[in-house]
Amino acid sequence: MTSTLLRGRTLSFLRWPETVDDHSAWRYEDDGGLLLRDGRIAAAGAYADVEKKADEGVKKIDHRPHLLLPGFIDAHAHFPQMQVIASYGAELLDWLNTYTFPEETKFQNAQHGRRIARLFLDEMVRHGTTTVAAYCSVHRESAEAFFAESHDRNMLNIAGKVMMDRNAPEGVLDTPQSGYDDSKALIAEWHGKGRQHYAITPRFAITSSPEQLEMAGALCREYPDLHMQTHLSENHAEIAFTLQLYPQARDYTDVYEHYGLLGRKSLFGHCIHLSEREADALSDTGSVAVFCPTSNLFLGSGLFDYQRYRTRDKALRIAAATDVGGGTNYSMLRTMDEGYKVIALNGEKLNPFQSFWQLTRGNAEALSVVEKVGTLDQGSDADIIVLDARATPAMRLRMETADTLAEELFLLQTQGDDRAVREVYLAGRAMKSDLGLNVGL
Ligand code: GUN
Ligand code: ZN
Repeated sequence: MTSTLLRGRTLSFLRWPETVDDHSAWRYEDDGGLLLRDGRIAAAGAYADVEKKADEGVKKIDHRPHLLLPGFIDAHAHFPQMQVIASYGAELLDWLNTYTFPEETKFQNAQHGRRIARLFLDEMVRHGTTTVAAYCSVHRESAEAFFAESHDRNMLNIAGKVMMDRNAPEGVLDTPQSGYDDSKALIAEWHGKGRQHYAITPRFAITSSPEQLEMAGALCREYPDLHMQTHLSENHAEIAFTLQLYPQARDYTDVYEHYGLLGRKSLFGHCIHLSEREADALSDTGSVAVFCPTSNLFLGSGLFDYQRYRTRDKALRIAAATDVGGGTNYSMLRTMDEGYKVIALNGEKLNPFQSFWQLTRGNAEALSVVEKVGTLDQGSDADIIVLDARATPAMRLRMETADTLAEELFLLQTQGDDRAVREVYLAGRAMKSDLGLNVGL
C-alpha cells in the first residue's frame, strides 16, 4: 500500500488541559508531519523528522498553513432524523410523537434507509466528524443500511437498531423477543467487521417495557464488550412519565440500573436533571453522560451542568454530541459553540483547548475508543481533519487580530462550520475532496 506524508500545523491532546497555558496537555507542531501507512499513523512529529522516515515514492500533501487534528467524534446522533431537523414548536414528548416517530416509520423501507444513511455519513464527513455513535430506527434494515454505508467508507462507527416496544406508533415497534433476535443478528453480522461497532440500543424507558429492558440487560451480559446507548433525564415530563411507568424505581437512573444497563461502555444521552444519587450511580459505574447542547436548547430541555459533573467528588465521564435531529447542526464546531454558551449560563467557562480536547481525545476516551482514534499518536488510525480558520471572509478578517493558537481555536469554534473543514482522512484516505460540493441526493 502507498504511504502519504501530510504537512501542516499538527495539534493533538495528551490529557485534559487545565488552562490555556497548560502546554504539556497537548502536542503542537508549527511545522508538523504525519506519515500515513496502511490506514494508520506510522510517524508523527516535526516535519523534518517525519520526512526522514518516509518511504521512497511517498505521496506528499502540503496542508500548510492549516491545522491538522484528529477527526471529531460525535457521541450521539440519530441518522433517521435528517428530515426531522427544524421541526417547529414542541418539547421532547410532543416532538417525538408529532415528528420523529412518524418519520422513523419510513425506515421500514430498506431503500430509504440506505439513501439516508449515505447522505448522513456524507454529512458527517463534510463536517469533519470521523466517528459517530448513531441510533438507527427500530427496523433491522436501517441498521443494515447504516453499517453497509459505514463499512464502505471504512469509517469507525458505533451504531445499533433501537429497541422500542410501546408508547409509539405500530410502524416503529418491535417486541422484546424480536428486538433481542434482531440485535443479535446484527451483532453477528456487523460487530467487529472492519471498523464497525455494535451498540445495544434500548431507545429509552418510556418506549421499552420492563420485559424489553430485561432483554437489553441480557444482551449486555452476553456481550460485555459492546456499547449500550439510551436516553436519560432529558425533560421533566419525560422523567414524570418514566416514574409512572416504573413506580418501583427510586429515580430514572434506577430503572436502567435495575436491568444492569450501567457501565463503562454505557452512553446516556442528556442527563440534564440528575439528582446527586443518580450522578453518583453513573460515576460509580463509569457510565458516560452525553452533553447535547444544540438539542437541549432547541427542545428547551435544560442546561447540562458540565463543570459541576466534571469536578464533583464523584466525577462523571462526559462526551459531547450533536443529537441530530433534536440537535440542529451536524457540526461539532457549532455544537461546542452552543456548549460553551450552555456552560456560560451555568456560570462557568470552557477554554478553547478544553473544547478541542473534548471533541477529539475526550470523546474518544468517553467512548472507549482512544486506542484507535482521537489522537495523532503513532499507531492510531489515520482519521485526520484539516481545519482552516480563515474559511470565510469574516473569519479571515477576525484572524487578522488573533495572535495565539487559543484565539484561533476559539474562532474556529465560534464561527466555524463545514466550510472550515478543508479535508477529512478516513483511515488515511482523503474523503471530503471526493464528495466535492455536489450532494448526490
Ligand atoms: N428520547 C427518546 N428518543 C429520543 C430522540 O430521538 N431524541 C431525543 N432528543 N430524545 C429522545
Ligand atoms: Zn437522542
